[in-house]
Amino acid sequence: MNQLLPKDFLIGGSFSANQVEGGLRGTGKGLSTADCFKLTDRSKGGSFELSYQEVLDAVKDTQDQKYPKRRGIEFYTHYKEDIRLFSEMGFKALRLSISWSRLFPTGEEETQNEQGVDFYLKLFQELKKYDITPIVTLSHFEMPVHLAVKYNGWADKQLIALFTKYARFVIDTYKDYVTHWIVFNEIDATIHIPFVGAGIIPERTENLEQTKYQALHHQFIATAQTIKYAHEVNPQSKVGCMATKNLKYPATCKPEDCMQFFNETEIDTFVTDVQALGEYNYAIKQYFKNKGIKLDTTEEELQLLRDHTVDYVGFSYYASLVTSFDKTNADKTNANLLVGEKNPYLEVTPWGWQIDPSGLRYSLNFFYARYGLPVFVAENGMGMLDQEDETGQVHDDYRIDFVSKHLEQLMKAIDDGVDVMGYTYWGCIDCISASTSEMSKRYGFIYVDQDDQGNGTLKRSKKDSFDWYKNFISNAMS
Ligand code: BG6
Repeated sequence: MNQLLPKDFLIGGSFSANQVEGGLRGTGKGLSTADCFKLTDRSKGGSFELSYQEVLDAVKDTQDQKYPKRRGIEFYTHYKEDIRLFSEMGFKALRLSISWSRLFPTGEEETQNEQGVDFYLKLFQELKKYDITPIVTLSHFEMPVHLAVKYNGWADKQLIALFTKYARFVIDTYKDYVTHWIVFNEIDATIHIPFVGAGIIPERTENLEQTKYQALHHQFIATAQTIKYAHEVNPQSKVGCMATKNLKYPATCKPEDCMQFFNETEIDTFVTDVQALGEYNYAIKQYFKNKGIKLDTTEEELQLLRDHTVDYVGFSYYASLVTSFDKTNADKTNANLLVGEKNPYLEVTPWGWQIDPSGLRYSLNFFYARYGLPVFVAENGMGMLDQEDETGQVHDDYRIDFVSKHLEQLMKAIDDGVDVMGYTYWGCIDCISASTSEMSKRYGFIYVDQDDQGNGTLKRSKKDSFDWYKNFISNAMS
């Protein structure tokens, strides 16, 4: 590939605080919901939910080695070395997240944890040194666990005020370094994995369906308030949403399958519709009606959603699925947060995620056609069991193949006329898996010497894909 990308294209990598930072003890950081997950079984597709008792036990448990996200890859102390490697690859952007519980350990403090404030300040200064644009997510699959225990997370409306206080603090503190923001990572996670997305412990709700959509509504309002504030502080700020692109194709051209596909797509897309168009679409309104879901809201809140929509649409794209009207005999497989139907034309990763580069072009066109806003690939990547050879080198041709085919499709989307703002490859350095808390589900161009139990030197080394991505960026951005 030697086609050029636009001059200001934000190409680079992506990760979240809870999967890389570590730096829990002696730093003033509070426990987050992510810090409560133990290593889970890959064959079961991982675990995103915990019982109330498991959360309470995790909060009391100081044996941190049992909880992989408490150690991450110790980016907290290795960040300079890691950023230097990102710069060597030619990154123009790094999408990262801020841990709310590092700045406000319980989420209810009046004053911030200065050690945490200083960590992010130094991190942004380091990125500036290398001219890497930070794209900062305010909430990526974690919140202070105290808020989950006390309020059942975003189920409680009081979370809006607590979150916006935190968001305003972050925007004020780092405004000289950050112009690109994302409020919630994969905001639709609240529907699929409510503890991870919104700190909701399902057994503590009487009506889970109602609670999830109400919590999501609270998150939409918090998003609109954050957009409003970010634009007041700096009118040049770009605030985006981020959702999982649950791309599904109709299983056949049978009209029933096509209708099923259409309807599921409209329902899935309501989360970006609310944030980009300021309205709940007709399909989700009908879904609410059919399920007896009634949102507790006011005209003022609905107006806020209309008045403060996003500047760009971010999404994650890993895999596609198919859908059919009659699901009785359909073979199932995983795709990120969802389980869906298999596509006989696609290969899968060892985790069952179907590899579909063309689906990225489709998704970019889909969002651009719908909103006419810049579109951003916030996550795309391949988790594999990488093996080091006798010299310690990882030959990850399969990852090079995956990324090059996806980038080829992204370039086709640009040729189609789509305004693509950037591409940040997920897990540019190996990190802890969100779903299984494994270290061995590796995405990185950079290998980190650590196993699932936390043994290892944490030494960073370059995989074959490192040089491939470096060359790609250098050619495409020249
Ligand atoms: C996305 C999340 O859903 O998928 C990331 O935003 C996550 O946090 C990524 O790591 C890949 O999922 P997993 O389970 O393979 O880590």
